[in-house]
Amino acid sequence: MKEDIHQYFGEDIVVEYDVNRCIHARECVRGLPNVFDPDKRPWIEPDEAAVEELRSVIMDCPTGALQFEQPDAEYEEPVPKRNTVSVVPDGPLYLSGDVEITASDGTVLLEETRVALCRCGASSNKPLCDNSHEDAEFEASGTISADESTADHPDVDGTVRVTPVPDGPLRIEGRFEMQGQDGGSKSCDSGGSLCRCGGSQEKPDCDGTHAKIGFSSDLSPD
Ligand code: SF4
Ligand code: FES
Repeated sequence: MKEDIHQYFGEDIVVEYDVNRCIHARECVRGLPNVFDPDKRPWIEPDEAAVEELRSVIMDCPTGALQFEQPDAEYEEPVPKRNTVSVVPDGPLYLSGDVEITASDGTVLLEETRVALCRCGASSNKPLCDNSHEDAEFEASGTISADESTADHPDVDGTVRVTPVPDGPLRIEGRFEMQGQDGGSKSCDSGGSLCRCGGSQEKPDCDGTHAKIGFSSDLSPD
């Protein structure tokens, strides 16, 4: 995973922006256009909004490209009590909650509250999304089959651990709520395997297609 972090200093807060993780979802620009203006340099002016407002908009950034630090206030971003995996149509998986990404040998690669994971197979920053789904013209619905029997989804807390299997799917362990863009949702407490090669006929789940198409998690397609 690559990092290219830029810092923007305000009086009471430091905003950090990782260029590699921004997929131009524009929640920041819509939320606080005075602070986030891609046409200006610097494009982030932290003191153009109240700190609380700024923190709230930063925490709406679904990819985790935006972070903040407030060492003097000793304030840290709270970890959401519910873990969610949202399936974006023609795009990535947004994870929110107590999220840990680990290598196959158990090494923790990233601890996060917000992250976007590639599911088209084309990202050059796997397992993170780098917006390559647009160039790849990835097409996939964001629907999931809702499970009516667990409509309230009470138990979706704890750590949700994602392990990108080399040349295979995203193995996911822990409790979380899977959300579709059609409003469908279901709770998952036994983990599973989510497609990240882009080829599954059972998206967002893996159906073994990665082996048939020779998916390589090291390379992005030409
Ligand atoms: S909200 Fe996050 S991903 Fe979206 S444009 Fe802003 S920084 Fe990029
Ligand atoms: S990762 Fe796509 S089918 Fe398994």
